Amino acid sequence: MKRKLYSGRNPARAVAIADLQAMARRRLPHFALEYLECGAEDELGVHANRAAFEALRLVPRTLRDVSARSIETQFKGGNSAAPMAVGPTGFNGMLWRDADIALARAAAQSGVPFCLATLASASIERVAAATREWPAAPRWLQLYMFQDRQCTLELMQRARDAGYTSLVLTTDATVYGNRNWEARNYRGFKKPDFRNLLNTATCWRWLANVYAPGLPRFENLDGFIGKRASALDAAEWIERQMDTTLAWRDVEWLRERWDGTLILKGILDADDASQAVRCGVDSIVVTNHGGRQLDAAIPSVAALPAIADAVGGRAEILLDSGVRRGMDALKARRLGAQGVLLGRATLYGVAAAGERGALRALEIIRSEIDNGLAQLGCASLDRLADIAIA
Ligand SMILES: Cc1cc2nc3c(=O)[nH]c(=O)nc-3n(C[C@H](O)[C@H](O)[C@H](O)COP(=O)(O)O)c2cc1C
Repeated sequence: MKRKLYSGRNPARAVAIADLQAMARRRLPHFALEYLECGAEDELGVHANRAAFEALRLVPRTLRDVSARSIETQFKGGNSAAPMAVGPTGFNGMLWRDADIALARAAAQSGVPFCLATLASASIERVAAATREWPAAPRWLQLYMFQDRQCTLELMQRARDAGYTSLVLTTDATVYGNRNWEARNYRGFKKPDFRNLLNTATCWRWLANVYAPGLPRFENLDGFIGKRASALDAAEWIERQMDTTLAWRDVEWLRERWDGTLILKGILDADDASQAVRCGVDSIVVTNHGGRQLDAAIPSVAALPAIADAVGGRAEILLDSGVRRGMDALKARRLGAQGVLLGRATLYGVAAAGERGALRALEIIRSEIDNGLAQLGCASLDRLADIAIA
């Protein structure tokens, strides 16, 4: 029987990420919802990510004292209240006004690291200022390597000055995934077509929150393309700047210039993972970009065991793509990841109800991790090593 999801507007009443997703679906215009949810081509990758998590069955242990549990996690990029961090997602301002700030504040309050995207709608400095109340909150910056390396160097320096502990270099998106929904929704470059405009006109809550105050920009790029550039101009600039020559030598170049934690995001192959270790990165993110890039890519959780073997503890492993439940984080942890990055899970929260929604998303996943760990008969994350996979 198909279960009914929460149909109201109070994020505190959402009991699963699926409820926040339903709330977001009711609030967002069609084109923004597709931006959040969709993948590349036939979205086989998006579905395979969930299917791979769902197919993993665990063998719980019993008669173990689980009264005192701990899920706190030490990442190379700082401590976390749980084996999770908020991953980088660009242009969040299209989902909620100042969504990056809402997410960063929710993460800081929850004691979880937050990764700001280069292509965020809020700047490095504004996010740092908005989370000043939590001085210990780890902030990471995701980097796209632009052809103009001066841009990259400036972004790094700004991150350093604003107290970001970690850089996350994204390696799997120098060429954009083939996103058919995008081509269908827009007439010309990123201009919603008539059908979408009509639909957007009915989304009054979104219009009041996102459209009326002025459409979001890519604030981190203001210095390079000018504050007055429209999001369209900026998107064109970004596409021109994406560096398809990106290669391992660039990772070494970055390593020489960044003495904080360096995280490489975009690994699915065990040899690539070993190469990353040789380049001196601190962590890798096993990811298929949430199915938004190569549609045929292996689900990251399926790629994880071989990568964990190849890395052999020489670098930290993080994982994302398809995480919607606390149990997914535990499965990833059992297979060798230190923790997971949350993409759409927290985006659904913020798109549903801003900071309160993002907080709720983090609380849902955190409590599912705690509950799941207890049900597996483990008092700590390390005890997951005793859990067999069926
Ligand atoms: C709307 C959206 C925007 C994203 N933007 C970026 C980005 O700017 N940089 C990046 O490295 N990854 C980006 N990602 C990928 C996420 O960091 C992450 O890899 C992915 O969302 C994980 O899959 P999940 O959403 O199924 O959890 C984006 C993902 C989404 C859903």
